[in-house]
Amino acid sequence: MKSPIRISVTGATGQICYSLLFRIAAGDMLGKDQPIILQLLDIPNARPLFDGLVMEMQDCAFPLLTELITTDDPLVAFQDADIALLVGARPRGENMERKDLLEANGPIFIEQGKALNAVANKHVKVLVVGNPANTNAYITLNNAPSLNPENFSAMLRLDHNRALSQVAQKLSRPVTSIKKMVVWGNHSNTQYPDLNHAEIDNQSVRSLIADNDWIDNSFVPTVQKRGMAIIEARHGRSSAASAANAIINHMQDWIFGTRKNDWTSMGILSDGSYGIPEGVIYSFPVTCQNGSYKIVQGLNLSDYDRNKMQKSYEELIAEQNAIKHLLV
Ligand code: NAI
Repeated sequence: MKSPIRISVTGATGQICYSLLFRIAAGDMLGKDQPIILQLLDIPNARPLFDGLVMEMQDCAFPLLTELITTDDPLVAFQDADIALLVGARPRGENMERKDLLEANGPIFIEQGKALNAVANKHVKVLVVGNPANTNAYITLNNAPSLNPENFSAMLRLDHNRALSQVAQKLSRPVTSIKKMVVWGNHSNTQYPDLNHAEIDNQSVRSLIADNDWIDNSFVPTVQKRGMAIIEARHGRSSAASAANAIINHMQDWIFGTRKNDWTSMGILSDGSYGIPEGVIYSFPVTCQNGSYKIVQGLNLSDYDRNKMQKSYEELIAEQNAIKHLLV
């Protein structure tokens, strides 16, 4: 019997976690032979919802769930964590500008970064999902100086999956046949879904589609604005189940490796690749092996691509500037 892996999850009583936690406990993320301990964090007001969640988790009688901890203290939630999924965040209120959202979330991710630094396992893999995900990941990383920056990532996998699915539907081909999709940049509508490198059976997806108008005026904006379309269709509720699924995909690839001759998109600390200066959490195409990721190098980019990538970079710099005063 393997020893249990400790998984910390924040925002545990929220929408995404109502799908995510049950799938993790069922073995969908780490496998059907891997026992887990769930260490769940939410705010004190969430206590009644925690009680309901715990009852439902108990009623599932999950064979792999060896312990379930609920707390409002990050130092308890992140104690010895092997994996930390930072899903919880302040939602965007009415009349709240993006800048106000950044300000409201800053203290949360400062506190959680410090707590991870203090008590998590040194090899902890951190995925930030709560929005604005890239900048929240940047704040967390900056408050955890004793952890390797390569242990931190922000989630762009939902955007990546959306891009795959749009192409699969357009070409009536299975999603699994599509390789080498990329979503560059920020998890916001400045992201750049780029199918120029994508292939099906070694054939270029762009040439199979042979419809530039669809690519520029349907594919790209559909992927960029999908989150909002789902909120509208679900009467104000966001894309929770697909986000939970993307979390599972992201962690599986990071831990177990990406497919042969393929890659995924992850928000990670830029190292200067593709002209994106060092120091922002930016989504790049990466391959994963033995628990580490590597940015795919050598992709040809046009001026059009670089221009789109630069716009997303500039947005991230503006976000960083908006929270700079919090990072003293
Ligand atoms: P939700 O509003 O249903 O749940 C958020 C939960 O976080 C609540 O239970 C809340 O009490 C908790 N929370 C707030 N402050 C906290 C703190 N300091 N510590 C721990 N928990 C805290 O939201 P939902 O739908 O579950 O989404 C969570 C986040 O994920 C949102 O920021 C959303 O915008 C983001 N998101 C990101 C995606 C991505 O692709 N990166 C995709 C979909 C959602």
